[in-house]
Amino acid sequence: MSKDKRLLNKKAIITGGARGIGAAIVERLYQEGTEIIIADIRKENVNNLIKKIDKNNQIDYFQVDLSKEEEIINLIKFAKDKWGELDFLINNAAIEDEYTIENQSLKNYKKTLSVNLDAPFLCSKYALPLLEKNSGGRIIMMTSIQGIRGLKGNISYNTAKGGLINMTRVLAVELASRNILVNSVAPGFISTDMSVRKDGVHEGDTQWFKDVYLKYEKLPMKRYGQTDDISGAVYFFCSEDSKYITGQTLLVDGGVSSTF
Ligand SMILES: NC(=O)c1ccc[n+]([C@@H]2O[C@H](COP(=O)([O-])OP(=O)(O)OC[C@H]3O[C@@H](n4cnc5c(N)ncnc54)[C@H](O)[C@@H]3O)[C@@H](O)[C@H]2O)c1
Repeated sequence: MSKDKRLLNKKAIITGGARGIGAAIVERLYQEGTEIIIADIRKENVNNLIKKIDKNNQIDYFQVDLSKEEEIINLIKFAKDKWGELDFLINNAAIEDEYTIENQSLKNYKKTLSVNLDAPFLCSKYALPLLEKNSGGRIIMMTSIQGIRGLKGNISYNTAKGGLINMTRVLAVELASRNILVNSVAPGFISTDMSVRKDGVHEGDTQWFKDVYLKYEKLPMKRYGQTDDISGAVYFFCSEDSKYITGQTLLVDGGVSSTF
């Protein structure tokens, strides 16, 4: 393998790696030499994704429903049996929500929190012994600009992402002495299946987006983000270049959160 690979022989679990931002992270870390377990409920596309990218048998797949604690325990056991250690835990999987408080049920609210907030907590908790095994592990949370601002009609998602940003800080404080760094990447508008609304329309094609974000320049860079805009930031938090950074959230949003 080439010496240019900067994360050679590192080992990563990437939740939600079957598509979208997760798949872009899989591709980026693979290119840097990392061995990967894609942990996702979704089987579709995974074989094609692995076939497309993986020329060196570096990528494995473990089917897991992250809303279930026992399945998370099995995922971590799979990584332990395979590698015995772990360098990077990328808590990327999440589900969307489109309800305001009046029409949000407690059941649905809790379902979103179980995937978007409880699962990163449980994955981090059970992966700790594996992350500690080497010279220093990294946990990276995929959060959102919706974790620092409120978006109407998305209460459970926003609440979970806000909690995850502060969980990032707490874990950074708790785990620094164990040489585990914890950071978060907060995307803005990134084009994935998640950007397609329930009515089938891509958010970037709505009049609302065109008016508010493009015409009135609430999105200063005036373009919808792409998945590789995010995978580069995740790579940074895995790399030696971020070795003195912990507890931080890097907003990768084309400037949305810098204006008002
Ligand atoms: N796309 C955006 O504009 C955007 C913006 C801000 C933050 N994010 C965050 O980035 C991350 C990835 O988003 P995306 O746009 O790629 O979404 P996506 O829906 O395309 O991908 C999410 C992945 O998570 C998996 N997943 C969902 N529930 C699961 C479960 N219970 N168990 C296991 N896997 C499960 C899905 O199967 C899917 O492969 C999420 O945390 C999301 O909140 C996305």
